Amino acid sequence: LDNGLARTPTMGWLHWERFMCNTACDTDPHNCISEKLYMEMADMMVKDGWKDAGYEYVCIDDCWPSMDRDPKGRLQADPKRFPGGIKKLADYVHSKGLKLGIYADVGTKTCAGYPGSLGHYETDAETFAEWGVDLLKFDGCYMPKWTLLAEGYMNMSIALNKTGRSIVYSCEWPLYEWPFHQPNYTAIQQTCNHWRNFADVFDSWTSVKAILDWTAAHQSLIAAVAGPGGWNDPDMLVIGNFGLSRDQQETQMAMWAIMAAPLLMSNDLRDIDPQSRQLLQNRHLIAINQDPLGKQGNRTAKGNGFEVWERPLSEGRLALAVTNRNEIGGPSSFPLTIALLTNWYCCNPQCNATQVTPKYRELGVQNPFTPLHIMVNPTGTAVLVITPIKGQQYTPQQ
Ligand code: DGJ
Repeated sequence: LDNGLARTPTMGWLHWERFMCNTACDTDPHNCISEKLYMEMADMMVKDGWKDAGYEYVCIDDCWPSMDRDPKGRLQADPKRFPGGIKKLADYVHSKGLKLGIYADVGTKTCAGYPGSLGHYETDAETFAEWGVDLLKFDGCYMPKWTLLAEGYMNMSIALNKTGRSIVYSCEWPLYEWPFHQPNYTAIQQTCNHWRNFADVFDSWTSVKAILDWTAAHQSLIAAVAGPGGWNDPDMLVIGNFGLSRDQQETQMAMWAIMAAPLLMSNDLRDIDPQSRQLLQNRHLIAINQDPLGKQGNRTAKGNGFEVWERPLSEGRLALAVTNRNEIGGPSSFPLTIALLTNWYCCNPQCNATQVTPKYRELGVQNPFTPLHIMVNPTGTAVLVITPIKGQQYTPQQ
């Protein structure tokens, strides 16, 4: 969507995967969906270097509203859990130099059964703008007919634009259309700043693998439309929770960078282990994710249980991810020859190779035929950045 926003993938925090629809503030005040949760996350984002690393949006998901609209037909926050209301919360988040995201649904109800926006798009867009909201995640549950999804998502896009406020528009349009037909990605890219294509992420390796496999299987369709202003959204980062091993966390972070995915963490920033924090704040991976060229990477090779993904970067550089998808054995070496890559040209006639994760190490000057041996742990990923060295072109003797 060409609204001047999300020129690089959105970075921030979103409550759903970790906190879900926990409304039990009486028994679980620390983790329930309440204004306190977002205020505490905003505090942590400033205090623990998240904001400095680029994470900016604090985002509310489902279960924030009251079950009833107000007498004027406007959505209102649950008065018990958000006593100050959303405007106050937005002011608080803004006072920290951060932005606030909110959630609504294109249909009659949200997935968790709260009021939907169907028939209220303009009112809801205006309400969000008045409150000072900076991002809208628009879910796709309870649409009376799937054929109305496209129109609904487009009308909300128009309604947001009409408010005159800069609001990042996060859609789930393709996810809800896929069961019926192949979505129109050109229209989606013109309507939304990012869009969910595939099932919700869970805190598990099975889930992360399924997202990667789906993305690779559909890359010719979906990667082509991604770019500044419009991104495929493979869902939240679950790093710092309970389900991924160290190496699997490395893989999620690396691959979300290669896929030019929004980096929306769903974890508890008040209680996160230092290793997860370091990984989520890894400046090399964030720089790949936020590369201004804005080209989404693709899987370009697969074999021996390994996968190679390539993402062209600005200044003729290339990011390369090598994932060891074997789930038996120890660290294995993957023989890599740049000449065999789709983007081998970044090393013509020479290049510098640097491995950026899991450990930073300079690999030095290479030519396309230098054999590189990259060691990768099972379910882990190594990321390399290849930087061209311009020089005398090799011309064969006549
Ligand atoms: C389905 C979405 O895909 C999730 O990300 C989350 O927003 C839930 N709905 C909330 O009900």
